[in-house]
Amino acid sequence: MVAQVLPYVPRAVVGRVSARYIAGEALQDALATVRALNESGASATVDVLGEFVTALDEAAAARREYLALLEGLAVQQLDAQVSVKPTQLGLKLDPAACLSHFRALVQRARELGTLVTLDMEDSSCTDATLELYRTLRRDSPQVSAVLQARLRRSGADLEALLPLQPSVRICKGIYVEPGAIAFQDREEIRRNFLALVERLLRGGGFVGIATHDDVLIERSRALVHQLGVERDRYEFQMLLGVREDRRRRLRAAGYPLRVYVPFGSHWYAYSIRRLKENPAIAGHVLRSLFERR
Ligand code: FDA
Repeated sequence: MVAQVLPYVPRAVVGRVSARYIAGEALQDALATVRALNESGASATVDVLGEFVTALDEAAAARREYLALLEGLAVQQLDAQVSVKPTQLGLKLDPAACLSHFRALVQRARELGTLVTLDMEDSSCTDATLELYRTLRRDSPQVSAVLQARLRRSGADLEALLPLQPSVRICKGIYVEPGAIAFQDREEIRRNFLALVERLLRGGGFVGIATHDDVLIERSRALVHQLGVERDRYEFQMLLGVREDRRRRLRAAGYPLRVYVPFGSHWYAYSIRRLKENPAIAGHVLRSLFERR
């Protein structure tokens, strides 16, 4: 129902709802948002909006945008990393070109003392993205992967990565996937999420605990304490604009926290795609149609 209704939702309404979740259209908007987050005690990972490019020059343009972002963050001495969707750098068009774009970003990130995370997209990208991560990780530790608790394969993927002492973000996974490859039940997804976090905490490496789910936050906190994990081995991660109250409480309690900050001119397409993929989030849009401001 939500997917059918969305095309008729006025752009202005989508914009109004998305404004909470997106730093703005320009690099300066993202830098200002990161500065405010840093001042509140949180670090950031910045995403230049865009994915599934259809021409190689778009991938090259995305690489330039990310390089400019890395420079901007460094010049302003901000505490931030970057997150990149592999299809935005041409994963589906030309894997060799995509690798070369990523190499340029990871090398620059290394010189500037920061890190590049390869966001995980739908299951058609999982193998190629993990392969890309492995290749980049051979050259530099300044790169991080993402595993989705929704996918049944993620436990095995993590075992294969552990010898690299990897930095991995664990999230539920935003893409709707079929039952044959993905858990559908909320509790199963939660169980897998916690199993992945625990395996990574016990096995070495760094874990980004990316969730707004109270149950997962509380159980992850308990795990961290139970295992006596140092603060430099994990952090909580949340999306810009989501559960800011929860974020503040985690910060106040002294937990390391990173906020994912998307920005860029592709905000409309991004918002619509995210909303279609996750009707639960789309509920926020539909509600806003009836909210008074
Ligand atoms: P859940 O969806 O149950 O949310 C818990 C509560 O948070 C909800 O009850 C609601 O109140 C609130 N909430 C959650 N999302 C909201 C929203 N957008 N607006 C308003 N309220 C909201 N996925 C992926 O496939 N690949 C990736 O690379 C990433 N990367 C990533 C980075 C970071 C930092 C985060 C936090 C998340 C991702 N994700 C992701 C998305 C992730 O997979 C997942 O879809 C969302 O985080 C929602 O799942 P939760 O665990 O937050 O639980």
